[in-house]
Amino acid sequence: MSLQIPHREKANGSQAATKAVILVGGPSRGTRFRPLSLDLPKPLFEVAGHPIVWHCLTAIAKVPSIQEVCMIGYYDETVFRDFIKDSSKEFPQIKIVYLREYQALGTAGGLYHFRDAILKGRPERFFVLNADVCCSFPLNDMLALFESRDAEAVILGTRVGEEAASNFGCIVSDAHTRRVLHYVEKPESHISNLINCGVYLFATECIFPSIKSAIKKRTERPRLVSYPSSENLESSYFQDEDDEEKKNEVLRLEQDILSDLADRNQFFVHETKDFWRQIKTAGSAVPANALYLQKAMQTGSKELAKPSANILQPVFIHPTATVDPSAKLGPNVSIGPRAVIGAGARVKESIVLEDAEIKHDACVLYSIIGWNSRVGAWARVEGTPTPVNSHTTSIIKNGVKVQSITILGKECGVGDEVRVQNCVCLPFKELKRDVANEVIM
Ligand code: GDD
Repeated sequence: MSLQIPHREKANGSQAATKAVILVGGPSRGTRFRPLSLDLPKPLFEVAGHPIVWHCLTAIAKVPSIQEVCMIGYYDETVFRDFIKDSSKEFPQIKIVYLREYQALGTAGGLYHFRDAILKGRPERFFVLNADVCCSFPLNDMLALFESRDAEAVILGTRVGEEAASNFGCIVSDAHTRRVLHYVEKPESHISNLINCGVYLFATECIFPSIKSAIKKRTERPRLVSYPSSENLESSYFQDEDDEEKKNEVLRLEQDILSDLADRNQFFVHETKDFWRQIKTAGSAVPANALYLQKAMQTGSKELAKPSANILQPVFIHPTATVDPSAKLGPNVSIGPRAVIGAGARVKESIVLEDAEIKHDACVLYSIIGWNSRVGAWARVEGTPTPVNSHTTSIIKNGVKVQSITILGKECGVGDEVRVQNCVCLPFKELKRDVANEVIM
């Protein structure tokens, strides 16, 4: 249900300025996205025909009061240059800048380090989006809640199964007022199944003083800090006293800020009933691809392939790809630039990346076929379907935990008639015999 409340207007009738920050992380993160992140930074990996971070930008572009987006990360400056150039043409109303942290500063440390850049133009509030989530980003609904409650902060929440909740930040809220009463990051025991989606809206006048007082607290009781991030933040573990200063700059919204915000009573949660998934493991790109394709289909996107006897919607085919008319694709398939799909091939619930080739009569199910990889004639590359509402991409096979999605890294080859099942295959490997439930190094 969306709140229909007009945006707060300034005396001169214009809308209060809003900015957005996208936290893109850096090369020491995204390790669970291997082998795909060996060749491309995770935020630039394409799902449903576009880089993951493009989906965040598209949602931001739907908020009329946003004119500037800061991408904050610690990748090299050159990494996002082309993406920003292309996106600036696609979203001309938005200025996009990349701000590089000199080291991983944590989810709040980067915001604080670049506070002058964020505060430039005097925005009254700004969104923060984790780049590694896939959702419909209901930013206008969050803004409406923020304005109706005169909030200091709004967080996007979603319900997950009890067994999955403790992998995320957990929110205890008042169902009637939507006030956040209590926030715990990845709690050890169950407190709530309403979880943090990694999307926030903050009042600038509140969040920076909150981060500042967290820094002060940290300085007053300096000690070894290890954060329960899902991928341990390398720089959060300091042994050398000389690193004390650096340690104090590493701050996380989730552990250092959000629970204090809850104590201040002006922190609210907008619960989305729409889709939401994390994009952590390489395999999680497959459900994210499916969710974004389904959304594109619901909104009548012209980018999708027209349905036919051999195209089961939704399917994205890059205009430079070659697909034999007798190949059957879909549902939930993306075919990248210059990829070639041969006669009689079957591709379902999969991503086929740039310059890959699927030869005639091959079958690709629940898989990612890496850049320039080749799947031979009559070969079978397949993963295992998992429930739609599952938040994991691993399954148990023969008592062993394996990835449910089969992934071929860059420039791999699968021989004719070879069967590859539930495998993760590192770049440049040639598979000449059947393999199952293995990581091929
Ligand atoms: N710029 C920058 N600098 N970005 C960072 C840094 C950093 O030092 N550390 C993490 N990020 C980015 C990541 O790239 C990702 O987009 C986001 O911040 C969160 O990453 P994690 O730190 O790995 O947290 P998490 O994914 O385990 O958990 C967070 O997200 C969940 C939702 O996906 C928490 O906010 C959870 O509470 C939440 O449920």
